[in-house]
Amino acid sequence: MKIFLDTANLNEITNYKDFIDGVTTNPTILSKQESKNYKNLILKICDLVKGHVSVEVISEKFDDMLKEGQELAKLHKQICVKLPCNYYGLRVSKYLSEDGIATNLTLCFSATQAILAAKCGATYVSPFIGRLDDVGQNGLSLIREICEIYRQYSFETNVLAASVRNSYHVTQAAIAGADVVTVTPKVLQNCMDHNLTKIGVELFNNDWKNRKK
Ligand code: E4P
Repeated sequence: MKIFLDTANLNEITNYKDFIDGVTTNPTILSKQESKNYKNLILKICDLVKGHVSVEVISEKFDDMLKEGQELAKLHKQICVKLPCNYYGLRVSKYLSEDGIATNLTLCFSATQAILAAKCGATYVSPFIGRLDDVGQNGLSLIREICEIYRQYSFETNVLAASVRNSYHVTQAAIAGADVVTVTPKVLQNCMDHNLTKIGVELFNNDWKNRKK
């Protein structure tokens, strides 16, 4: 399973670069960074990681979305064009993927959207776990359903578990067979922290300091 970092902050990406295979951004995430030149920021992110860097289009109609996607893809070979999982985004994915451009169909909230993303050649589909949980639905069930459907039909699109709020989401997405999870730096840090590890290190080091001499 690959791990992507859900941030556009260069310090955070640098701090966690040894653990991650790529980066996901969205307009909200990018807008949190103070930058006069977002293209430069995206290029700097591409330099920090080896894998895909998802950058989302902001156009809402087919022609504009297609043009924006093509322009984003030209910026760097690691860029994966993030498109909304709707009528226009799905159609644009079909066109871009036919040209060999990687796409990430985002804001996926149903298995049928994921089926269509696969049919439209998406490299990734991003089901949002946390946002479904927020409205009283089960985000992890959606991950399980999509993984099962994709296995059944050998769809090549990668399931990218997104809107991940805690390490339980990460474990359950992994058990379901998600190809990628994208996590915030905070969730990634929580994934490597355990209180018993902390206590154990303190105990060992204390015992060593107080050893018989
Ligand atoms: C994924 O690519 C999205 O950027 C992200 O996971 C959205 O998460 P949120 O629901 O915490 O905003």
